[in-house]
Amino acid sequence: PAATKSRINKITSLRSKRVRVAGWVHRLRQQKGIMFIVLRDGTGYLQAVLSGQTSQTYEALTLTIESSVELTGTLQELPEGKTAPGGHELVVDFWKVLGAAPGGDDAFNNRFNENSDPSVLAELRHFVLRGETASSVLRLRASLLVAFRTSLAEHNLLEVTPPCLVQTQVEGGATLFKLKYYGQDTFLTQSSQLYLETCLPSLGDVFCIQESFRAENSHTRRHLSEYTHLEAELAFINFDDLITHIEAIICETVDKLLADPESAALIKQLNPSFVAPSRPFMRLAYTDAIVWLNEHGIQHEAEDADGNVIKDAEENPTMVPHSIGDDIAEAAERRMTDIIGTPIFLYGFPAELKAFYMKKMPGTSEGEKTFTESCDLLMPGVGEIVGGSMRISDSAELVAGYRREGIDPAEYYWYADQRKYGTCEHGGYGLGVERFLAWLANRFTVRWPGRATP
Ligand code: 4AD
Ligand code: MG
Repeated sequence: PAATKSRINKITSLRSKRVRVAGWVHRLRQQKGIMFIVLRDGTGYLQAVLSGQTSQTYEALTLTIESSVELTGTLQELPEGKTAPGGHELVVDFWKVLGAAPGGDDAFNNRFNENSDPSVLAELRHFVLRGETASSVLRLRASLLVAFRTSLAEHNLLEVTPPCLVQTQVEGGATLFKLKYYGQDTFLTQSSQLYLETCLPSLGDVFCIQESFRAENSHTRRHLSEYTHLEAELAFINFDDLITHIEAIICETVDKLLADPESAALIKQLNPSFVAPSRPFMRLAYTDAIVWLNEHGIQHEAEDADGNVIKDAEENPTMVPHSIGDDIAEAAERRMTDIIGTPIFLYGFPAELKAFYMKKMPGTSEGEKTFTESCDLLMPGVGEIVGGSMRISDSAELVAGYRREGIDPAEYYWYADQRKYGTCEHGGYGLGVERFLAWLANRFTVRWPGRATP
């Protein structure tokens, strides 16, 4: 009888029928004249047996890892005591090599292994992708994006796709990638926030999942030059609504992943000790965090007036306690988050540390300092995964914000028009998808600043 073509993750219903599957030789083992293949087709893994009865056994002996093949046979449930992915194996009676991979020195498994130099792994990233860990992470990432989209839609946010080539900065000039666009100075977007704000009067609450670009000077395990940025903007809300919304989206997204057997299994495989965070998340004011850091002896590097780190005779940086107005650097933030050990909303940052568009916190100035209705969500092991704020809703206040940041208001006329034509209290946030995934899967991005190949 003709064999039914199947994908490995859909094959179980075809047990004891003749089936045909195509994929890549993931593993290969020969035992007493029988060839065992683990076939991979991207949807899963399938054990296949090419036994002595097969007319093409001779060719089987020359099979190589990563060759693409088509196998036809009968899918048999494994007897008690034997294990293979899916609990079955394909007893193959006919097969074809579609694309042979090299053997010998050039064989796939001779090109690299887990202990290879990172530069080799970067160069062979296209091969590393075929590995079990990389494909599990990518698969979990796909489920995560679906779950985020579903959660956001359930909260009545509409998805839009703003441009990536823009002429406005959002998060300061220091991390802009500049390029010429038909002769005009243009940037790769750092954030789609300003565009999302223009959508509010048209569509109501909106979100986007889009690449953002940062010419980062800090090359840490969490700083990428290009990353996937989930951003949302909500109209007619207050600061408390914003924080509650962020918490809801994160918890509901995690719940969806854990409720789905496929993504739950991936999380278990990649991060066995993962537990869903419980609500409500801790809320910690910036000024209280400064006190907390000093109580716990967590200091930061002293800087001179030009922002250079002050070093002692042995070239060690001089460490000093935190004071109000200091930026909480990544190292201090991570130590605090790891000691506390739960998600933390750190809120109310000083205005001079933050972008031009952030709304001031009513009645919370200490001396000369103004604080903002801003929040970062910090996760154990990673640190900041979300940055959000209420936005300035008043025209005059916005102009003062441009002035403080040295921004030419002319290029932002369309943004200022939002405040002029029917302003509203609104706020939003950006979430780094790779950082969220790092937290979920307990794994970090391979960082390679300046590398675009492959
Ligand atoms: O805190 P950020 O810079 O905030 C904004 O861009 C706002 N305009 C977002 C908004 O309100 N719509 O970036 C937001 C998040 C960070 O919390 C972090 O998770 C991620 O984006 N992020 C990065 N992820 C990887 N590599 C980088 N270089 C990142 N920079 C920011
Ligand atoms: Mg931030």
